[in-house]
Amino acid sequence: MTNRGNFSGRLGFILAAAGSAVGLGNIWRFPYLAGQNGGAAFLLIYLLCIFLLCFPVMVGEIAIGRKVGSDAYGSYYKLGGRSWGFLGLFGILAGIFILSFYNVVAGWAFGYFLEISFGDLLNHPDFGGFFGAYVNDISDNLWFSLGFMVFTALIVSQGVQKGIEAANKIMMPSLYLILIGLIIYSLTLPNAMAGVKFYLIPELSEIKAQTVFDALRQAFFSLSLGMGALITYGSYVKKDQNVVSSAAVISIADTSVAFFSGLMIFPLVFSAGQSPTEGPPLVFMILPQIFHDMGPIIGRVVGGSFFLLLCFAALTSTVSLLEVPAAYLVDQKKLPRKGVVWGLALLIFIIGLPSMVSQGMVPFLNKLPFYQGRDFLTFVSDMCDISLTIGGGLMCVFITYKWKIENMNEELSLGNDTYMGSILQKYINFTIQYVCPLLLGILSILVIIDKFFGIDKVFG
Ligand code: TRP
Repeated sequence: MTNRGNFSGRLGFILAAAGSAVGLGNIWRFPYLAGQNGGAAFLLIYLLCIFLLCFPVMVGEIAIGRKVGSDAYGSYYKLGGRSWGFLGLFGILAGIFILSFYNVVAGWAFGYFLEISFGDLLNHPDFGGFFGAYVNDISDNLWFSLGFMVFTALIVSQGVQKGIEAANKIMMPSLYLILIGLIIYSLTLPNAMAGVKFYLIPELSEIKAQTVFDALRQAFFSLSLGMGALITYGSYVKKDQNVVSSAAVISIADTSVAFFSGLMIFPLVFSAGQSPTEGPPLVFMILPQIFHDMGPIIGRVVGGSFFLLLCFAALTSTVSLLEVPAAYLVDQKKLPRKGVVWGLALLIFIIGLPSMVSQGMVPFLNKLPFYQGRDFLTFVSDMCDISLTIGGGLMCVFITYKWKIENMNEELSLGNDTYMGSILQKYINFTIQYVCPLLLGILSILVIIDKFFGIDKVFG
């Protein structure tokens, strides 16, 4: 195989994979889902999903990628033949659709960063109204999300080490620093402890079917699982590295950022006397109000930092999303990386346009009749979430029945002398063979029923 590139070492891989994992999912979506699902109750189920389902799937994905050293399609194809290759293609397609809407939201974050730091967004009298108008302003949306896609493509076109790894080595540590600074600030606010309580003391009666569904899809999305991103990144990992411990570090890094963004946001929300159940606009409508109340200068600094943080987090994720189809075209079609990256970026930007105009500009896309009146962006995002849990479940079926668990174990023991015979091995084997396929299969079906018909209406 020609030189496809490699991560320089363990740290490079871990940072890049953690960068892929840490994104809008952690800082934008995790807090609002937690807010809607009872706070601590959601956190509890979320952690359970990570431990029981996500960590084993992550180990499996990286193992597949490193074993073959190819893109998502090539890896499944080589180990499982043509029909399993489809699972890889399915994942690549999911990645394209995720990036299409993700880039729209990233564009909002980018616009908010600019307008808070350099414009006068914080002087606006009505932040809810501002957000509503903002997502319906076609020219702002076009420019900011196009800008974001260009940043993404610039990084990915530089290749694995010089582009992806280098960008992550700068952005990931900065992200942690900004986050820690913001948490310290928010914990010092009056009434911050009410937010902490809501977030950390579980009310078990709050756990409903919806809590479990939301926690599961959020956990998969947040760890970038189920569509081959980690097969692709795994394919750039050298054989002397410990995959299992890397996966543990990545899972912990991602989960801690999600946890900490909750710890930053709920004290802010409660100290401002706002409600945590606002949903998707939580970060865009409530936080600016809070930044406004901090006064013109502090508000600008804290608010600007927050949205810069959001942009960094999003960028390391869009990079990984673009890398998946790019690696496929580079590996399978032998096309040059730069051309592939720019071509895909343009194509995916165009695929994202319907999501962009679905927030009110185009009434039909704003209230889909076949989707319980929800909007198109939500539709695409939900369908992608479902394909992740299905993809993860099928990957476990693939490892169990096609590739075989012993072969995975052999791959995992490279760079990890103590793996064979360890409790961790037994845990990973048991979950991949039994727990994950079963639970992911059942839950994916229930989520589909819920999304299209409403679970309460069907079973209630
Ligand atoms: N994990 C990222 C987030 O939380 C999003 C993301 C990046 C992703 N790459 C992915 C999701 C691959 C699923 C699959 O924001």
